[in-house]
Amino acid sequence: MTLHEIVLIAHSYLRWLVLSALCFACLRHTRRWLSGAGWDRLDERTQVATLGTLDLQFLLGLILYVLLSPFPRAFLADMAAGMKSAQVRFFGMEHALGMLIAVGLAHVGRKRAERRDEPRQKHRTTAIFAWCSLACMLASIPWPGRSSARPLLRGLGGEAPVTSPASSASAAVAACPEVYRTRCASCHGVSGRGDGPLAASLKPPPRDFSKSTFGRYRSDEALRQVIVGGGSALGLSPLMPAHPDLSEAQLGELVRCLRSFGSRE
Ligand code: HEC
Repeated sequence: MTLHEIVLIAHSYLRWLVLSALCFACLRHTRRWLSGAGWDRLDERTQVATLGTLDLQFLLGLILYVLLSPFPRAFLADMAAGMKSAQVRFFGMEHALGMLIAVGLAHVGRKRAERRDEPRQKHRTTAIFAWCSLACMLASIPWPGRSSARPLLRGLGGEAPVTSPASSASAAVAACPEVYRTRCASCHGVSGRGDGPLAASLKPPPRDFSKSTFGRYRSDEALRQVIVGGGSALGLSPLMPAHPDLSEAQLGELVRCLRSFGSRE
């Protein structure tokens, strides 16, 4: 397992803790605000614990953003091209910005609540900021069904996302599963020629699957390895991202899809 995968899995699972902590905070402070309860030690402790989990998650996200994930790199290298690819735009900008705001709101809420003397006001301020933070977070998570979907439980297999139907499925693309369009076409191009919107920003460029030399020296097994483990699995460029969450069936379809690009020449 690469460092990228380890951090990604931690980031994916810690999400559930963060969401639970934030939901708990929302409900607790709203209830205590409405019932006029006091501000006790448990309020203090849960607030510190919630912010701590949020910060830890934010740190993991930052490590992914700055060091490990290929999407922000592609986005920062060429923003104009990045904006055109749903996935690059999402992980390069939307997800990161949304979470920055969500974590910021939670911290501002604490600071503001600290300045209030009346317990009711403290609960009210904390609750309002926690609800806003939660809403922002829910809107910025790559839930299944979105074009940048990521698995709910990473690494357990079989839960790969199903996304919206293809917009313009030409005959050339029909041999490829939907997941090719959502996960691969941004770099490799809709028709596999290595001419996706991001291709220009990548060195080495993404493979042109329509070239007759592609795949001749690679077994299906090796192609699966690259798709699952990313370029580094076969000593290729790490700009080819890992897709550890694809199911066996999807991998089979993808390999067939890649080979079909070449056979059409
Ligand atoms: C962020 C851009 C990007 C995305 C997204 C991407 N690739 Fe790649 N891919 C690359 C690059 C760049 C290379 C070339 C690596 C090299 O030459 O060192 C590559 C290489 C490959 C190879 C290696 C071919 C060979 O010669 O052995 C395969 C197979 C592949 N990609 C399949 C896929 C599939 C399938 C998907 C979607 C699930 C995908 N790629 C998504 C950038 C990408």
